[in-house]
Amino acid sequence: MDSVSTSTSVVISGVSRGLGAALARRFAALGHPVAGCARDREALDRLRADLGEGHLITVTDVTDADAVERWAGETVRRLGAPALVVANAGYISPQAPVWETSPADFRTTVDVNVVGVYTLARAFLPRMATGGTFVAVSSGWGRNPRGRLAAYTASKFAVEGFTRAIAQEAEELLPGVTAVAVDPGGGVDTAMLATCLPDEHTEYPGPEAWAQVAADYLLHQVPKEPNGASLTVPGP
Ligand SMILES: NC(=O)c1ccc[n+]([C@@H]2O[C@H](COP(=O)([O-])OP(=O)(O)OC[C@H]3O[C@@H](n4cnc5c(N)ncnc54)[C@H](OP(=O)(O)O)[C@@H]3O)[C@@H](O)[C@H]2O)c1
Repeated sequence: MDSVSTSTSVVISGVSRGLGAALARRFAALGHPVAGCARDREALDRLRADLGEGHLITVTDVTDADAVERWAGETVRRLGAPALVVANAGYISPQAPVWETSPADFRTTVDVNVVGVYTLARAFLPRMATGGTFVAVSSGWGRNPRGRLAAYTASKFAVEGFTRAIAQEAEELLPGVTAVAVDPGGGVDTAMLATCLPDEHTEYPGPEAWAQVAADYLLHQVPKEPNGASLTVPGP
């Protein structure tokens, strides 16, 4: 059976708030079965109740490769092979020069933003529907560095390189599967933006407005060529 035509399910990490929550709600409203994860149990309970039947909202830490592997297996059993995987979960610490950035914060940034993309790629790429798209959520600061956010910059530059490498693997070993790095584009008013731009974050659009454009872009408008592209969600 050709899974391209049958699969409409979408996987998103980091759905307890922000861009991931807005994407999950938008995809569900459009009729797509959604598999989502994060760590905040209460926020996930609320999302699960709001989305209703036919979705899989799970407490899973993306830095735990075994847990992500179990989540991926359950996702495919319950919702089928995903057409789209969005490795969205992310972390940022408040702006500070690197000598004031603690080793714990630096490690957390790399763990969530880089290892957390690796765990999703490892678990989901070989389980994707033919023609499926793996999206690693990047940032403008994954293409142009930002002083006082060196850990975040390093993590998102790593995401860009990692995605180009796994795109080569997909090209060779997973026919029809595409991996791309996507910058949400311009800034979206979330808890993360409030952490790094505390004085300006409210000037940016909210996640719901962003998801209206982004959901369609990620599922239908991401070009299949070149595999490994660095893309940006278009403005509303
Ligand atoms: N907002 C922007 O303007 C902007 C701009 C460029 C790029 N981005 C990128 O967009 C993505 C989403 O950002 P956002 O603004 O929506 O951030 P956010 O509001 O802080 O949300 C981050 C999400 O990631 C989840 N998460 C964090 N650590 C996790 C872990 N270990 N395991 C599972 N889930 C985890 C959080 O849930 P729990 O805490 O419940 O686990 C939360 O749902 C990130 O990759 C970010 O770098 C955002």
